[in-house]
Amino acid sequence: MNNILVTGGAGYIGSHVVQQLRRNNRNVVILDNLSTGFKQATLDSELIIGDTGNRELVNQTLKNHNITAVMHFAAHTIVPESVTNPLKYYGNNTCATRNLLACCAENGVKHIIFSSTAAVYGIPDNGLASEDSLLKPINPYGTSKLMSEWMLRDLSAATNLSHVVLRYFNVAGSDPQGRIGQSTRKATLLTKVACEAALGIRDHVAIFGTDYPTLDGTGVRDYIHVEDLANAHLMALNYLEQGGKSNTFNCGYGHGYSVREVLDMVAKLNGKPLNIKELPRRAGDPPQLIADASRIRSGLNWQPQYDNLEQIIQTSLNWEHKLLQHNFRD
Ligand code: UD1
Repeated sequence: MNNILVTGGAGYIGSHVVQQLRRNNRNVVILDNLSTGFKQATLDSELIIGDTGNRELVNQTLKNHNITAVMHFAAHTIVPESVTNPLKYYGNNTCATRNLLACCAENGVKHIIFSSTAAVYGIPDNGLASEDSLLKPINPYGTSKLMSEWMLRDLSAATNLSHVVLRYFNVAGSDPQGRIGQSTRKATLLTKVACEAALGIRDHVAIFGTDYPTLDGTGVRDYIHVEDLANAHLMALNYLEQGGKSNTFNCGYGHGYSVREVLDMVAKLNGKPLNIKELPRRAGDPPQLIADASRIRSGLNWQPQYDNLEQIIQTSLNWEHKLLQHNFRD
């Protein structure tokens, strides 16, 4: 059985994947520099603190732990920040990935699962993206991830490595057992901001744009529960271990909710109205971004369990309550 290195395993998505791997009795080592991740999120998994850009450390880790599969989550993910500080994104998301890939090639790693993003599509026609849609990122974050996808593609073509690229749509929710969740400080994600506003941690939540050509005028996204997304990683690993060819899969449900629908659900589950401010559109936001999610269902036999806005928001709210109780924030 493969020993698995999870970079960014102390972060929001990586930590959920680690828990599922452990529940499936997989051997896991985490590499995380804790710049945005939290040691608490790793629970009792083995954690090595350091950068994926550190060649010596990565080589040593791969060798010492006899790693044969890598899941690569470690990255910066805030789109507006990537616009103002692009080199930070190319440095960490692209150059550090190049280093990781070089170490993987050197140490005979067989499989890589790479966290990519719907941001590689930019603004697809009709707001619907399939894996074969045009790749036209509109921000450095999307470009930094796309460049890594291409390095992986070329490395797999040149060696025995096989890989899966997973393109995430809007990830939300948290572990239904409440042990881990989205702890990002100063978060910009709608679901987190809205839950924080519901609990009085923020004064209000803004709607960025009410004049989009959508049903209620607000932006529409494909929100995927983090547990279903984590499960897609396990399915991808099984697929590669059984000899599956390198491939790319969208991770979404194939349908969307508007900002207003998300906020209505937060208010309903929290039992009181939210303080909402309607503001102009945010730069760089497409009106609608929905996954064509057919390939992952057929290719990986992925069967989501949480395709339900109420469950997504309820688990997010539960986690915010927990953070508040433990004073686990800035
Ligand atoms: C998120 C991801 C991005 C990914 C994309 C895929 C992060 C930080 N962003 O971006 O990596 O490529 O999904 O679809 O992980 N909104 C408000 N008020 C707010 C915040 C957001 O109205 O306070 C609106 C936005 O205008 C947008 C929707 O809510 O219409 C979702 O925004 P957000 O949660 O920030 O995610 P994305 O920008 O879609």
